[in-house]
Amino acid sequence: MKENPVVIAIDGTSASGKSTNSKRVAAALGYTYVDTGAMYRTLAWYCLQQNINIEDTKAITAALKKWRTKLVCADKAVYLTVDGYHPAQEIRTSATSAAVPKVAAIPAVRAWMKRKQRQCVKFGNIVMEGRDIGSEIFPETEFKFYLDASLDERSRRREADGIIENLAERDKRDTQRAVSPLMFSLGAIPINTSEMTPEETTKLLLEKIYEKLAKRQNKSGTTNKTDEI
Ligand code: DC
Repeated sequence: MKENPVVIAIDGTSASGKSTNSKRVAAALGYTYVDTGAMYRTLAWYCLQQNINIEDTKAITAALKKWRTKLVCADKAVYLTVDGYHPAQEIRTSATSAAVPKVAAIPAVRAWMKRKQRQCVKFGNIVMEGRDIGSEIFPETEFKFYLDASLDERSRRREADGIIENLAERDKRDTQRAVSPLMFSLGAIPINTSEMTPEETTKLLLEKIYEKLAKRQNKSGTTNKTDEI
């Protein structure tokens, strides 16, 4: 395992530009990208597959003991497989999207996800996007960002992607959930992307990350000096 890997936590509201920018930042730095929303979606998909009632917390909690998953890292991205299968398309259907908030609100699910998500550092330096990465999953990281944009702009972006979604309702669910709600975490750098292009947002994120990486190197006293007595 890489010693002291860098964890870049990118949290924020839906359609704030999290995914686009997390992927771009990971590619620019050569880090591994982790989409934690996809992990919750994978569990929701699995429950639907198994005909588990999505309102049945006990049955979903029991499924966590039963499903056989692996964390796989390929082409610098991490995903969950279930019985060796990666449901890449299936987790994006409207049925899965409707089921996932219910699954994500269950405390046992969040504890399971936390354990798995923390294991991702075994793949080296990571960029992890989600809702609670800076607050709950890696609160110790010094690289925390919180992306947001106006409701109008986020709705416009969703529509441009062909998705009609009540984002105000989604924000409410994400922020008012009892366990690990979406929130601004201590030490996070806020970025409002309403008036920014993805290129500008990525550039700003990278500038902040390079600044912090330079400070971290100075602190650890990394020099090329030769040891001599
Ligand atoms: O980012 P997304 O739309 O793919 O997320 C899917 C769902 O999972 C959404 O309801 C929010 C939830 N989620 C979460 O609760 N915590 C995370 N770290 C990531 C996603």
